[in-house]
Amino acid sequence: MARLILFISLQLLFVPLVYSFGAPHVCRSYCGNITIDYPFALQPGCGHSGFRDLLFCINDVLMFHISSGSYRVLNIDYAYRSITLHDPHLSTCDSIVLGGRGNGFVVEHWRAPYLNPSADNVFMLLGCSTQSPLFQGFPAGNHVPCRNVSGMGCEEYYGCQGWMDLGLARMGLAYGTGPPICCALPFDSIKSVNLSKLECQGYSSAYTLAPLRVSGPAEWTYGIRVKYNVEASNDSFCKACEATGGSCGHDVGRFGQLCMCGTWNSTSNCDTIMKLSVGGATLAMDHLPGSLIATIAFWLMSFRM
Ligand SMILES: *[C@@H]1O[C@H](CO)[C@@H](O)[C@H](O)[C@H]1NC(C)=O
Ligand SMILES: *[C@@H]1O[C@H](CO)[C@@H](O)[C@H](O)[C@H]1NC(C)=O
Ligand SMILES: *[C@@H]1O[C@H](CO)[C@@H](O)[C@H](O)[C@H]1NC(C)=O
Ligand SMILES: *[C@@H]1O[C@H](CO)[C@@H](O)[C@H](O)[C@H]1NC(C)=O
Ligand SMILES: *[C@@H]1O[C@H](CO)[C@@H](O)[C@H](O)[C@H]1NC(C)=O
Repeated sequence: MARLILFISLQLLFVPLVYSFGAPHVCRSYCGNITIDYPFALQPGCGHSGFRDLLFCINDVLMFHISSGSYRVLNIDYAYRSITLHDPHLSTCDSIVLGGRGNGFVVEHWRAPYLNPSADNVFMLLGCSTQSPLFQGFPAGNHVPCRNVSGMGCEEYYGCQGWMDLGLARMGLAYGTGPPICCALPFDSIKSVNLSKLECQGYSSAYTLAPLRVSGPAEWTYGIRVKYNVEASNDSFCKACEATGGSCGHDVGRFGQLCMCGTWNSTSNCDTIMKLSVGGATLAMDHLPGSLIATIAFWLMSFRM
């Protein structure tokens, strides 16, 4: 009889025990077939604050929203820390889109440290005016900044079908008077691709997936490949949080990091022992019932053994 009561009380105790110990995946989510995990998130308060209000899932389509506009997310590569974006008005090899409808790529000032188009991503600015800052000694010096990036550039791009469809002859494009109709450069040399500021009609963006070397512009991958960064200190905060069964998030008001432990939030991690010894009295009180149950449960278990 005593054994039975003990068994029942253990069963009852294990329910709150599981509940009070961590919430490892409360922030993980999916949009279509894309997994959204730290530092990204769809729910407010989840993920790193540098990536807040960035991703939205609309009818299973993941959208990325920054000051220059909305892009469809094609892929998030957590191993290489990159995110691949598609803009419907981005020119490809098959289709050159002019008329200034493309987004370009401009991030909010506060978000700039966290998102940067990758160094092997080429931006090709199309139909920019003679007065464009690109040809006025911008960003520095008096040389035109156009150049090849990772073996991709305008000379090859001019060979694309899209230009033929526009009725522009290849030679005319490359050797006309005035500025070139296409100017290729890496993001780093201009820091922002604002088509109206640069007075350009359109743009293309492509990248190569190293170490594969592709032969021509018909085989480049069109899209914007963005690297994302989380400072090492913030990354280790998150690892420690997850290791103790928590989910990494941030304070929605002050943007400081928070480790979400299910029924409570910690500014370090969900290790209750550490919390009780280092935390303030009020924080410790918050979590007392959970740890009390845990202590009793462990005591009962050892008693039963
Ligand atoms: C996701 O689905 C799309 C088609 O809907 C497919 O092209 C893509 O390769 C899939 N991505 C992954 C990571 O499975
Ligand atoms: C923990 O933090 C998240 C994100 O700021 C918030 O949504 C949630 O309500 C907090 N939970 C508790 C128990 O305070
Ligand atoms: C692009 O530049 C124009 C003109 O300088 C400016 O009005 C606009 O706000 C900029 N767009 C973005 C997204 O920063
Ligand atoms: C880019 O590379 C092509 C050959 O692939 C070369 O003809 C061209 O001069 C290069 N352009 C620049 C600006 O370096
Ligand atoms: C990331 O860590 C640094 C150094 O500990 C800290 O100053 C910064 O506020 C953290 N960032 C966020 C978003 O919490």
